[in-house]
Amino acid sequence: MVKVTVCGAAGGIGQPLSLLLKLNPQVTELSLFDVVNVPGVGADLSHINTDAATKAFLPSSKEDKTALAESLKGADLVIIPAGVPRKPGMTRDDLFNINASIVKGLAEGIAENAPKAFVLIISNPVNSTVPIVAETLKAKGVFDPARLFGVTTLDIVRANTFISQLYPSETKPTDFEIRVVGGHSGETIVPLYSLGAKAHFDKLSAEQKKELIHRVQFGGDEVVKAKDGAGSATLSMAYAGYRLAESLLKAAAGEDVTECTFLYLDSSIKGASEAKKLVNNLDFFSLPVKLSKNGIAAVEYDVLEKASADEKKLLEVAIDQLSKNIEKGVAFATK
Ligand code: NAD
Ligand code: LMR
Repeated sequence: MVKVTVCGAAGGIGQPLSLLLKLNPQVTELSLFDVVNVPGVGADLSHINTDAATKAFLPSSKEDKTALAESLKGADLVIIPAGVPRKPGMTRDDLFNINASIVKGLAEGIAENAPKAFVLIISNPVNSTVPIVAETLKAKGVFDPARLFGVTTLDIVRANTFISQLYPSETKPTDFEIRVVGGHSGETIVPLYSLGAKAHFDKLSAEQKKELIHRVQFGGDEVVKAKDGAGSATLSMAYAGYRLAESLLKAAAGEDVTECTFLYLDSSIKGASEAKKLVNNLDFFSLPVKLSKNGIAAVEYDVLEKASADEKKLLEVAIDQLSKNIEKGVAFATK
């Protein structure tokens, strides 16, 4: 029996993500929460003849907290793509003022109604929204660092696709499993091609390597520009968010799974203290983690040691920027 709640289920990501979850045979209950349009999405999905019983929850007013509470009660997994997306010319940080409060409100609901759930944060800026959720759960006394995931999977998906596109006759995107570490915004995104695709990466010219890394770091901008004011990545994001959710469900069923995620480097998690020392004592960083039925079982911090000299330079830049993003989220949540 697995209950999954999607907060922001009527949005550009929420709808295709909910569709993918509805197709997963492990999901027995699919709970859809949004502040607009969600009854229609729920009715539509509920006609699909898969096992997940689907229910939609729409608050009756701004003050109504019952709909969120009901949507969350008993959830094993909560996925949050709620909030505004970018328009051309904006950075993810420009979304902070609106999305920070949305995410904080949802985290309070989780603390009160689903304190043991795995929580997957998609809402941007991830580098700050994940610290907001951590601090909110801490303040309510229910924070478990092994159960909080900043979703950076789209960066991995892009890193795999983009290198494969440089070798179209020799490779498929599924041939690669590149580790992407750091955060989820511009130069905080650090793809470690020297580890997952050394032979192919080494064959590229210096200019091609630079362009490839830049494309992974700023891949989100490509979509924002192409959508021309109509939002940011939704379909690829739904795929990426689903992939992380599916990996957690597989791990819960006993499979050996590793995924990258932006996590709180708490000493209770194996390898997190070692990781923290390697990232200038930051509390949050995206790294490959081994998953288990209890969430994050271990952090594969050795990728930071094995990274090439060029990648270590990129990591320095990422660490510097991330510390500001993290501080901003913590300050907002604890003010
Ligand atoms: P969207 O505007 O299409 O959908 C957002 C949905 O959130 C809307 O349906 C809206 O009603 C809902 N919402 C707003 N406030 C809410 C609240 N308090 N509770 C529940 N729902 C609420 O936007 P989108 O394209 O789906 O993007 C959503 C977020 O995901 C954005 O912040 C975007 O930047 C982010 N994003 C992250 C990644 C990533 O890799 N982590 C990738 C793409 C987009
Ligand atoms: C992405 O990487 O596509 C998302 O973070 C959305 C964005 O704003 O670029």
